Amino acid sequence: MMATLYEELVAAIDGVSGGPYDGRRAAHAKGILCEGSFTATPRAAELSRAKHLSGDPVPVTVRFSNGSGNPDLPDNVRTEGRGLAVKFEVPDGPAVDSVTITLPVFFVRTPEDFLEFTRARKPDPETGQPDMEKLEAVLADHPETAAALQLILPSFVPPVSYATCAYNSLHAFCLVNADEEATWVRLRWQPEADEHLLAEEEIEGAGADYLQPELRERLDREPIRFALVATIRGDDDTLEDPTVAWPEDRERVELGTLEITGLAEPEDPAQPIVFDPNNLADGIVPSDDRILHARSHAYSVSIERRMATA
Ligand code: HEM
Repeated sequence: MMATLYEELVAAIDGVSGGPYDGRRAAHAKGILCEGSFTATPRAAELSRAKHLSGDPVPVTVRFSNGSGNPDLPDNVRTEGRGLAVKFEVPDGPAVDSVTITLPVFFVRTPEDFLEFTRARKPDPETGQPDMEKLEAVLADHPETAAALQLILPSFVPPVSYATCAYNSLHAFCLVNADEEATWVRLRWQPEADEHLLAEEEIEGAGADYLQPELRERLDREPIRFALVATIRGDDDTLEDPTVAWPEDRERVELGTLEITGLAEPEDPAQPIVFDPNNLADGIVPSDDRILHARSHAYSVSIERRMATA
């Protein structure tokens, strides 16, 4: 049988990461689960009727991760973004997920472009480097990817902590309130500890495995907090293209506070936890961004594989 587009997307990611790795996520393989709660602001409840935005505290499960599908890739490489996945455990369910990343924009506009770009990034087994001619040809065909990379590469500097990164939804979502009023937003988790990357001279010495121990020590001392900030769309801002940033001067509204209080039980690979950006609720509508919709299908390919190989 021919592979589906989504199987091809996962296979292309494997090509870059050296996977598949049994029982692991095809992307964001190295991660750590935490727990805490989320409390929405009164403004959030005015903008959306989603239950987790009502203002009552909601328990959350949180996973911080490194972007690669290779679970052994060192924390201090300069080629990866970091992820923050939040599951709002809405009482009387279903749960709502937010699956965000430190990149300021995404590399590509469509799943087909993701496939082309990711295939071109596959390292040559001899040199460990991608074929630069092929990669340059893809970038010449996709000026939006070349432009996005200029914004993305600085975000690949390893951070001081998972708690000192801002994480972006990249896609647009529509908040809908009880009066059917609609507000298009992009979302960002803004760290209370502020954004801090390692200084150039700290990167090598930080080591391959500093982020999870740092998080454990931080949580022993104090909770970690993030503000959920919505950027309100301007009339001409794109709803479908995650390679394009919205202008900096757009109105921002604080929707709530995520408080992470401790570690959760480690994940049992046989019963994987699934974070899916399309697990939404009445009161939040996804945009037609094709990357957003492709994600659920590609994640399902990875989830089935992790269960089968756990
Ligand atoms: C077509 C584009 C994309 C593809 C093919 C893709 C693929 C994947 C796959 C296969 C997984 C593993 C899923 C699992 O086993 O549970 C994953 C996880 C993840 N992805 Fe994506 N992804 C894409 C775009 C994005 C974007 C735009 C973001 C952020 C805005 C993102 C953030 C994440 C995060 C944070 C995780 C880890 C979730 C967790 O902790 O369980 N991805 N991705």
